[in-house]
Amino acid sequence: MNHARRFIARWMLLFFPIFVAIPLLPQSLRQDLANAKNDARVEALLKRMTLDEKIGQLVQYSYNTATGPGTTRDDYPQLLAHGRIGSFFNITGAQEVNATQKIAVEKSRLHIPLIFGRDVIHGYRTIFPIPLAMSATWNPELVEQAARVAAVEATSEGIRWTFSPMVDIARDARWGRIAEGAGEDPYLGMAMARAYVHGYQGPSLRDPTSMLACAKHFVGYGAAEAGREYNSADISERVLRQIYLPPFQAAVEAGTATVMSAFNSLQEVPASANPFTLTQILRGEWGFRGFVVSDWTSIPELRNHGIALDDATAARRALTAGVDMDMQGNLYATVLAAQVRSGKIPESVVDEAARRVLRVKFAMGLFDHPYADESKSPIKNLDPEHLNLARRVAEESFVLLKNDPPSGGSAPLLPFASRPVTIALVGPLADSAENMLGSWSLDGRPEEVVTLRAALAERLDANQGKLLYAKGTEINTDSEGGFAEAVSDAQQADVVVVALGEDAKWMTGEAGSRVHVDLPGNQEKLLNAVAATGKPVVLVVFSGRPLVLNWAAKSVPAILEAWFPGVQAGPALVRTLFGDVNPSGRLTTSFPRATAQEPLYYDALNTGRPAEGGLWQRTTDLSRPPQTPDEKYVSRYVDMPNSPLYPFGYGLSYTTFAYSKVTLSAASLSAEALNRDNATLSVSAEVENTGGRAGSEVVQLYIRQQGTSVARPVRELEGFQKVTLAPGESKRVEFTLGREQLAFWNIDMKDVVEPANVTVWVGGSSVEGSEAGFTIN
Ligand code: NOJ
Repeated sequence: MNHARRFIARWMLLFFPIFVAIPLLPQSLRQDLANAKNDARVEALLKRMTLDEKIGQLVQYSYNTATGPGTTRDDYPQLLAHGRIGSFFNITGAQEVNATQKIAVEKSRLHIPLIFGRDVIHGYRTIFPIPLAMSATWNPELVEQAARVAAVEATSEGIRWTFSPMVDIARDARWGRIAEGAGEDPYLGMAMARAYVHGYQGPSLRDPTSMLACAKHFVGYGAAEAGREYNSADISERVLRQIYLPPFQAAVEAGTATVMSAFNSLQEVPASANPFTLTQILRGEWGFRGFVVSDWTSIPELRNHGIALDDATAARRALTAGVDMDMQGNLYATVLAAQVRSGKIPESVVDEAARRVLRVKFAMGLFDHPYADESKSPIKNLDPEHLNLARRVAEESFVLLKNDPPSGGSAPLLPFASRPVTIALVGPLADSAENMLGSWSLDGRPEEVVTLRAALAERLDANQGKLLYAKGTEINTDSEGGFAEAVSDAQQADVVVVALGEDAKWMTGEAGSRVHVDLPGNQEKLLNAVAATGKPVVLVVFSGRPLVLNWAAKSVPAILEAWFPGVQAGPALVRTLFGDVNPSGRLTTSFPRATAQEPLYYDALNTGRPAEGGLWQRTTDLSRPPQTPDEKYVSRYVDMPNSPLYPFGYGLSYTTFAYSKVTLSAASLSAEALNRDNATLSVSAEVENTGGRAGSEVVQLYIRQQGTSVARPVRELEGFQKVTLAPGESKRVEFTLGREQLAFWNIDMKDVVEPANVTVWVGGSSVEGSEAGFTIN
């Protein structure tokens, strides 16, 4: 970064600690890792280092919290004093971090500082909604602000490196970690990847509030077969490049300083020992200059994968493939040196890995400022501005799935009017502070969460209303002991809010795969019992994945998907239920009608025998056997439509939106000009708020290409904009299609634009939209 840019960036940081300047970032962050002065310092230092000291930089241990299996060592102080550790994670508190740093800096021969990491996944102390929920905001600026807040808080406690964002594309709701990513779509995944990297790292890695990002898990982890955690993935190179790699590439281009290698094997090659992805693609094709850390013990796990009979081979395979730092595996620390001394690993490979780690340490300014500022730690109270942001993010993440009038009524059930009402609040998630924090909230505190029950009680107090509360059942039980109280409360109420869902820590996130993605235990039965009272019911769903909600969708008038909303769960929900805010979240994962549809994703290929009405089979009658061969021999299930219950991009609002015809700036373009980056096409449509309230619409642009050398999906997201409109207001929304949107990996594995017929849709979900078309010649 030149002086002027640095000055502007610093100025902005000073005056806008949270809302950082976006346009300056990508270039400057990448430049932080490509700084000639730092490179010279790295080389000078490397020359002075012994083999053991260089290997020391490649060693990372978790200090005292286990976020994975296995044991830890008890000789850290000695190892530190001898320069045998490059990074620690899971120590928090500036004083604690500094005390450990002091040993490395003062006692080790070359005074090389440590980097301190932690899983700061959706907030540090101020816990934001889970990442899947954040993606449902379709608002990367907001996500960037949330990541900035996380960085400001975590760095104040000495943490300068987070193992986030998880940018794995997840197309299978059985996989628990679908909760941790941005859903099923690569285009949205790229936007979110950039937002997190910019937010965490801020304008410059040297800034004391800059926290290194780590794009994980490289790569293919989200394609675990059958959604079973840690399972193998078999992804063709084309799909890898088209679907799974783009969010990683976006993170690298945004300047992520680190990448984490995954647990899974990818086409028989474990991801933590895969030279094709770690070296050829990441370094060779993308020019990544940061370093790669393994996932927790994923290097010794290479033995279980069967590609190493001993630890030495496991370590050698990982290092030579491109894994620079061994997280918690204790192998680089114990077996690498002998491998180098015996000539099995060239010392230059160790040098290169150490170089990458040191480069990041210099870029962070750690050699000049190794210590955290103790005056800000420990965090005593949550900052009101941070809480405010957490509430706003939660509000934007909620997806209104259904909002019909209650039986006998004419107006949709939501929002509730602000007049005295009696509300019965029922369900195991209504007052569960712990679950609101989601699956990764190491530093969040349940006592800082405002639950739905607490916030509703406050609101009803203010409205002179009355709140009745009954848990009704546990998250995962058969016992119906609590049903009677819940039903009796419902009978006395004007309206019932039923808060159901998953256990965040057990059933979602890492090691949270499920074969039935439905409401656990007897929760649906409870819902049935409460709905049978005839009272209007709003179902609020707390989950880390899309759930099967068929029964609810048929039986209750209103459903709000709330995910795990974080510390401000209650206020955000109450403000939404009462219409202070208008829901604007949209799904980023398809909600299935049955688990057996998984993996289920909107950007699928057509088949040679699509069902009547197309791939998503909108018109077939499934109530009777097929009547003709044409009806029978098609790609469908005989007992359930192909389509999701709620599709990608879907979500209702308290208002309605209408789209004009789509306008294109040209009817045809030349593939040649597009490939030269010399042509673009503009697509626009007018969107109007046709209802009676202000609201935000996520205007989505989809395309389909036909006539190409390889099959392309029935729809692909290639643009989106969130627009806020007053009642009656309309706005023309414009998108640009160019090489970036139209190129794909063709039959010769070239990333090019080909001649094609292109259909374009602009609309409010992946199954709607105004349509137009153009050709690429
Ligand atoms: C294992 C998880 O896969 C990874 O996402 C996490 O960052 C590490 N454990 C460290 O806790």
